[in-house]
Amino acid sequence: MKPRLFLSRKLPDLAMQRLNEAFDLRFNPEDRALSKKEIMEGVKDAEALICLLTDNIDKEVILSAENLRVISCYSVGFNNVDLEAANERGIAVCNTAGVLTESTADLTWALIMATCRRISESERFLREGRFKAWEPLLMLGQDVHGKTLGILGMGRIGQAVAKRAFGFDMRIIYHNGGWEVGSLPYEAEEVDLDTLLKESDILTLHTPLTPETRHLIGKAQIELMKPTSVLINTARGAIVDEAELIKALKDKRIFGAGFDVYEQEPYLPPELLALDNVVLLPHIGSASIETRTKMGMMAIENALAVLEGRIPLARVN
Ligand code: GLV
Repeated sequence: MKPRLFLSRKLPDLAMQRLNEAFDLRFNPEDRALSKKEIMEGVKDAEALICLLTDNIDKEVILSAENLRVISCYSVGFNNVDLEAANERGIAVCNTAGVLTESTADLTWALIMATCRRISESERFLREGRFKAWEPLLMLGQDVHGKTLGILGMGRIGQAVAKRAFGFDMRIIYHNGGWEVGSLPYEAEEVDLDTLLKESDILTLHTPLTPETRHLIGKAQIELMKPTSVLINTARGAIVDEAELIKALKDKRIFGAGFDVYEQEPYLPPELLALDNVVLLPHIGSASIETRTKMGMMAIENALAVLEGRIPLARVN
């Protein structure tokens, strides 16, 4: 008998094929997010759950799933899962760390370039029929090459972002909250958080969302940033105090921001949407065909490994 797995939303085709081969698969046939009640219904008799970062797998969900042995996140972030409740019930929680590193670093660079060189704003300008002639002062942005790149969170993704800065002749500084980083194949200087904020021309966030990192970038921190600097966030929205950031962007206290994630996504405050000095993406850091397929295969392998008593590729508890 195949083990029962509940999948909260359809994954890329190759992953669906593999799921059907390996499991007694129950899944949400509609391409929409499920309510908590629907997830509880789905996971009731399941031994494994593959969930999305938008599914709130809280204590109530975990306690309601009596046979559950593994929660396999289709994401690297796992702040949507109550780890304590999973630990209490002896349920393994796994993620897709590693396979989405390079795609997320690529997207981070897309945001760095787009924010510094005002790409989205320029395209809006052109599409609105406002491009009448080449002008000496049209859409002047910030250079990227030769600048100081500040990385908050020098884990896998932070390091992949740093690696890409090499071709732009950048100085790299980072802060990793006191966690050991190990040796790096390029020059990068570890600094305290205040120095990171003061010296970065481009500050990019790559730390997980935890109680310690929630609103780590607030009013006081934004005030330390250069007026010419940009803030990039492809990690989790709540690392930044969004209301304070909006005020800073409105007052032009920093040059701009590039965001893929939001405090209460998919909700975006209208004040943020109204600003021109911010590039806004709909949480697509890992959204390439190749990477989303790899994430599916890894989430499946993690679930199978736990059920078969093997060591999963990435377990977080
Ligand atoms: C994306 O945000 C992820 O955590 O995989």
